Amino acid sequence: MRRFEGRNVLITGAARGIGRTFAAAFAGEGAHVVIADIDVGRAREAAGEIGKKTHAVALDVADQQSIDRAVAEADAIGDGIDILVNNAALFDLAPLTEISRESYDRLFAVNVSGTLFTMQAVARAMIARGRGGRIINMASQAGRRGEPLVAVYCATKAAVISLTQSAGLALIGDGINVNAIAPGVVDGEHWDDVDAKFAKYENRPLGEKKRLVGEAVPYGRMGSAQDLIGMVFFLAGPESEYVVAQTYNVDGGNWMS
Ligand SMILES: NC(=O)c1ccc[n+]([C@@H]2O[C@H](COP(=O)([O-])OP(=O)(O)OC[C@H]3O[C@@H](n4cnc5c(N)ncnc54)[C@H](O)[C@@H]3O)[C@@H](O)[C@H]2O)c1
Repeated sequence: MRRFEGRNVLITGAARGIGRTFAAAFAGEGAHVVIADIDVGRAREAAGEIGKKTHAVALDVADQQSIDRAVAEADAIGDGIDILVNNAALFDLAPLTEISRESYDRLFAVNVSGTLFTMQAVARAMIARGRGGRIINMASQAGRRGEPLVAVYCATKAAVISLTQSAGLALIGDGINVNAIAPGVVDGEHWDDVDAKFAKYENRPLGEKKRLVGEAVPYGRMGSAQDLIGMVFFLAGPESEYVVAQTYNVDGGNWMS
């Protein structure tokens, strides 16, 4: 029997990147997967490519009605949600003296409010079904310390670590384990965008920042989404039953805590 046969997994922000890789990995282990993303066209494409037991739903985690609708849909599609991977997020950077309220409000709306209120809606659905569940939030090494150009994103990911701790304690009595993953630098479209932003503010050629951060990882290269699968499977599976409110670094040795 495959590892997640019969389990229902909801992954936010899974139209591309890490979330999409997780969706394919869970589906490959027999799970029903709901790919929820603001880019519903790309979510549908991903679901079509991954396979029959994978569905796409429209979700804007910054909008409460959208969260309520998407969680209700996911709950109905899969006869309950067993595992939530709370993965949708936005990145931005700017010198501290240039941070705009618009960027701050958007990042907090998606990365912090989105994480909390998606977690809340799914926790309510899990409690109503009475069979517990797993919630895995996507934090970041950025949440472990500040960065001169990345104050807002870092603060949002520190908030995700804190929310994971409080939610972990609040929900374990209902059999819901809440934990988080803090990746380091993971190659993909997200980092292409990050690289372009650093190029602008640090006056570098495109690609240079990405090369430098990869070389700086103790393991010797940037991570890939595949590198995170072992941890998400662990946190979603029976071996982590006694693991509560933790954030695990999966970053090639970038950060020790
Ligand atoms: N890539 C990295 O280096 C890295 C490092 C540390 C942490 N992370 C975290 O891992 C997660 C996935 O990162 P990624 O690299 O795959 O990012 P990505 O930008 O490739 O994917 C993010 C997805 O979220 C979706 N999304 C954006 N706003 C949304 C909204 N309001 N509602 C619903 N969906 C929305 C996007 O459409 C996209 O499909 C994020 O939480 C990110 O902060 C990434």
